[in-house]
Amino acid sequence: MDAISVIRTKRDRGELSDEQIDWVIDAYTRGEVADYQMAALNMAILLNGMNRREIARWTAAMIASGERMDFSSLSRPTADKHSTGGVGDKITLPLAPLVAACGAAVPQLSGRGLGHTGGTLDKLESIPGWRALLSNEEMLNVLDTTGAVICAAGDGLAPADKKLYALRDVTGTVEAIPLIASSIMSKKIAEGTGSLVLDVKVGTGAFMKTIEDARELASTMVGLGTDHGVKTVALLTDMSTPLGLTAGNALEVRESVEVLAGGGPADVVELTIALAREMLDAAGVKDADPAKALADGSAMDVWRRMIAAQGGDPDAPLPTSREQHVIKAPSSGVLTRLDAYGIGVAAWRLGAGRARKEDPVQAGAGVEMHAKPGDTVTEGQALLTLHTDTPERFEYALQAVEGSYDIGAAGTEFSASPVVLE
Ligand code: URA
Repeated sequence: MDAISVIRTKRDRGELSDEQIDWVIDAYTRGEVADYQMAALNMAILLNGMNRREIARWTAAMIASGERMDFSSLSRPTADKHSTGGVGDKITLPLAPLVAACGAAVPQLSGRGLGHTGGTLDKLESIPGWRALLSNEEMLNVLDTTGAVICAAGDGLAPADKKLYALRDVTGTVEAIPLIASSIMSKKIAEGTGSLVLDVKVGTGAFMKTIEDARELASTMVGLGTDHGVKTVALLTDMSTPLGLTAGNALEVRESVEVLAGGGPADVVELTIALAREMLDAAGVKDADPAKALADGSAMDVWRRMIAAQGGDPDAPLPTSREQHVIKAPSSGVLTRLDAYGIGVAAWRLGAGRARKEDPVQAGAGVEMHAKPGDTVTEGQALLTLHTDTPERFEYALQAVEGSYDIGAAGTEFSASPVVLE
C-alpha cells in the first residue's frame, strides 16, 4: 500500500477500501505517511466526501490507534456530553456537576479553544491551582469520589486524531462532516462512556452554519456512537447569538458559578437543564430533577469537590482583566441581533483565545454583554464591555464588534430563536 494511491482514489471520487483506510491511519500515526500527504487526502475528503461505511471504518481506525478507557468498575452509569463548539458555551461547567448530583458519573474529556470558539479547559484553568492534565488513574479516582471529572484527553487516546486535528487546523480542512464526525466520535468512543449527548451547534458562531448540515453531522455521529454500543442522542441548538452574557475564560467561570448557585442567564440555565435531562435519560437514571439539584445546592457541592480534587480553590477570587472598554448603545430601541461570530472573534482578539496552539490565553480577557436580543436598550447605556490585559488589542476587537449588533426602533417586533432547535 502507498499514500499516493490512497490520495488518488479519493481525488478521483472513488471509495476508499477498508484496507486503504486502516493502512493510511496506522501509517500516518506511525509517521510513515507524511503530513503533506495526509493534508492532500484530507482536502480530497473535504471536497469529495465519504460514505457511511468509509466514515465508520475511518473512525474505527482512529479508535484502534490508541488505548480505550474502561469505567466498568464504577457503581454508577456514565454519561458524557460533547458540544461542537460555540461562543459563550460554558455549559459543561455547570452541567457535569449537575448530572453527577443527579446520580450519573460524568467523564468529561474536554478541549482548548482555537479560533473564535472557547475551550472548556482554558476556562477552568482560570481557577487558581486547577489542573487539566490527569493520569488515567487520577481521572478515575476523581470520577469515583466526586461523580464528575473534566480534564484533557491523555496522549494515549485516539493519537491519530491528535495528529490529524492539528493538521486539519492549519490546512483549511476542519469543516468536513466526515472528518468532524470521526474526530469527535473516535475520542468519545475510546473514552469508554456508556452514553453520550451531542450538542450540535447551528448558526453564525458554529462550524455548521445551516440546519441541514447540522442534521447531517448529528445523524452521522449518532450512527457512529450507536454502532459502537454507546447510547447516543443529539440536540441541535442555536449558536447565532452567544450563550449567556459572557464570552471569555474567567468571565464564563463566574457565570457558570452563578448558574450553580441557582441564578444565571435564562438561556444558559435552559440549555444546561435540557442537556442534563437527555444525559440522565440516556444513562437510565430515573426520577432525577436537574432543576431541583441546581436550586438546592447539590450541584454546587459536586462542583466544589470536583474543582478541589483537581487542585483548584473554588473560593479563590477569579482573575480580572487589567483594562476595560465600554461600548455604549448608539440609539434607544430594541436589540434585535447580537452576532455570535462577531462577539467570539472579539473575545479571541482580546486574548481569551489563541491564534496558534502554543499561544497562552489571558484568564481575564473577553466580552461581557449587558443586553441580549429582545431587550430594550437606551442610548448611551453600556451594551458591551471588552476586557483585556493588553489595551493595544481594543482596536482590533472593536473591528470585530462593528456590525455585530442591530438596534431596532422602540416597539420593534422581535421573536427570539429557541435555544433548542431540534
Ligand atoms: N471538535 C473535534 O474534536 N474535532 C473536530 O473535527 C471538530 C471539533
